[in-house]
Amino acid sequence: MNKMNQLYEGKAKKVFATEDAEKVIVSYKDDATALDGLKKGTIAGKGSINNRMSNYLMQLLEKQGVKTHFVEELNDNETVVKKVSIVPLEVIIRNISAGSFAKRYGVEEGIVFEKPTIEFSYKNDDLHDPLINSYHALALGLATEEEINTIKTMAFKVNEVLKEYFLNLNVKLVDFKLEFGRLTDGTIVLADEISPDTCRFWDADTNEKLDKDRFRRDMGGVEDAYQEMMRRVFGE
Ligand code: TMP
Repeated sequence: MNKMNQLYEGKAKKVFATEDAEKVIVSYKDDATALDGLKKGTIAGKGSINNRMSNYLMQLLEKQGVKTHFVEELNDNETVVKKVSIVPLEVIIRNISAGSFAKRYGVEEGIVFEKPTIEFSYKNDDLHDPLINSYHALALGLATEEEINTIKTMAFKVNEVLKEYFLNLNVKLVDFKLEFGRLTDGTIVLADEISPDTCRFWDADTNEKLDKDRFRRDMGGVEDAYQEMMRRVFGE
């Protein structure tokens, strides 16, 4: 499969057309942004780590019955995925308080929830991805009621699979963001990526942060954290 014209360039990835109208090639970059793009940098090796980790996790999820966009890894940074139209919602699942949840509700990080939570943000850079509820998403025509129900069910299933998987690697899956897409026949599939950019990972013994928060919060040790997660997943 060959890369043809570039269809899109985002903050962390580029998307290229292929000779197959139903498939595209995603190319992962080392570029990193945070705080709505205000903070910019690069994380050496991030592109290949996110590509390989995301592909591994998507295949794990497929085996557990979660439909994803994954087709084939081409090389360290590039993957063939099914072409989707992205549902403009960021779907966030939380198991432990952190980040914007802790800030919004004035609680400390690290509270373990009895049940995971779900929330949606409206993917719209001009509006800074505002928090939105499912009724608002329906009213705005971002997704149908059936699609929203499917997305909720799939997101919690992803959480169950990944929480257990990461705990076996001595990692707490604190929270994460998912995106979903529609195939041409309307089927909802998990899309985008699952990586240290889009998840919070804490070492289960020390609570050391092993994800992009080290970049967001200028903590240092960013590359080491990504490599440590890679080592735990692939034993490298
Ligand atoms: P938050 O606590 O800042 O709302 O983030 C929740 C989770 O979503 C966290 O694992 C990081 C991830 N996330 C993204 O992947 N992209 C984003 O733009 C934001 C704000 C968060």
